[in-house]
Amino acid sequence: MKTKKVLLAGATGYLGRYVASHLLEKGYDTRLIVRNAQKAQFNSDSFEIFEAQVTQPATLKGVCEDIDTVISTIGITKQKDGLTYMSVDFLANMNLLEEAKKNGVRKFIYVSALNGEKLNRLKIALAKELFVDELKKSGLVYCIIRPNGFFSDTTEFLKMAKKGTVNLFGDGSYKMNPIHGEDLAAVCVDAIASNAVKIEVGGPEVLTHNEIAKLAFKTLDKKPRIKYMPGWLRKLVIWMMRTFTSSKTYGPIEFFMTVLAMDMIAPTFGKHTLKDYFEEVHQNMNDEKGIKH
Ligand SMILES: NC(=O)c1ccc[n+]([C@@H]2O[C@H](COP(=O)([O-])OP(=O)(O)OC[C@H]3O[C@@H](n4cnc5c(N)ncnc54)[C@H](OP(=O)(O)O)[C@@H]3O)[C@@H](O)[C@H]2O)c1
Repeated sequence: MKTKKVLLAGATGYLGRYVASHLLEKGYDTRLIVRNAQKAQFNSDSFEIFEAQVTQPATLKGVCEDIDTVISTIGITKQKDGLTYMSVDFLANMNLLEEAKKNGVRKFIYVSALNGEKLNRLKIALAKELFVDELKKSGLVYCIIRPNGFFSDTTEFLKMAKKGTVNLFGDGSYKMNPIHGEDLAAVCVDAIASNAVKIEVGGPEVLTHNEIAKLAFKTLDKKPRIKYMPGWLRKLVIWMMRTFTSSKTYGPIEFFMTVLAMDMIAPTFGKHTLKDYFEEVHQNMNDEKGIKH
């Protein structure tokens, strides 16, 4: 009898690598879609590797054979392929969904973003939410994971602190609970057996932007210097980016500048703290510069 399997799309990404490890740890029989098997460097004893281009439906033929659940973390973040959010976050995920439907896949788990449905006027969120709408209509069992910002995004606080000043919007009292990829991966894998159709999730600590900025300075052993930017400046920057740059450039900036001017709080989960993360990043920054510890 054929075994039921999980198909993971996005395995080469920040979150995807943690999801792949967690699937392995939990004993799931897992197939990974990668663009280039050699570059992806996964152990073929641990995973079945399927080389395909998610943006090209013809290459996906057979990818969902024997698959019980698809998990997709596919989306543009820092990729410089010249593609739009619509062609990847929406269409590439649609290609996977079509293939899943054809092969009788039971469940599709998709990673969107916290408050994506309220922020769908923004380019990144729109493409993701159009896919969410199609997934809900697909007839498959589904789960939409809505994570808060990842720890990796808060590295900007550390970079600004290193330069001497952290710039914040408003009075720095907006709150957020970013999440580590490893904690979020556990949520994605647990979703396979859960009945939830939507999971909003953030890290274990709800912090104000001021607290995150101070933590960044403390990690660097520097005196805090925080500058507060007026709301009109934020709106002007977003307007200028939208007017003078392409969606690939302004998409992430528009998203981050919007979420930095609101509370972003999700149900808390996980064990990783921002303090440990900042210390790890700081250590790596020093190692890269060749500073001995
Ligand atoms: N960062 C955040 O704060 C945050 C918060 C909420 C939600 N999210 C969303 O969560 C998802 C995962 O984030 P992440 O940080 O893990 O992103 P990531 O590291 O950039 O990984 C994205 C994955 O999508 C794949 N991909 C992108 N463009 C592709 C293309 N044209 N063809 C084939 N594969 C392509 C990447 O493949 P390659 O490795 O080959 O490029 C990678 O496997 C994204 O949709 C992101 O928007 C992020």
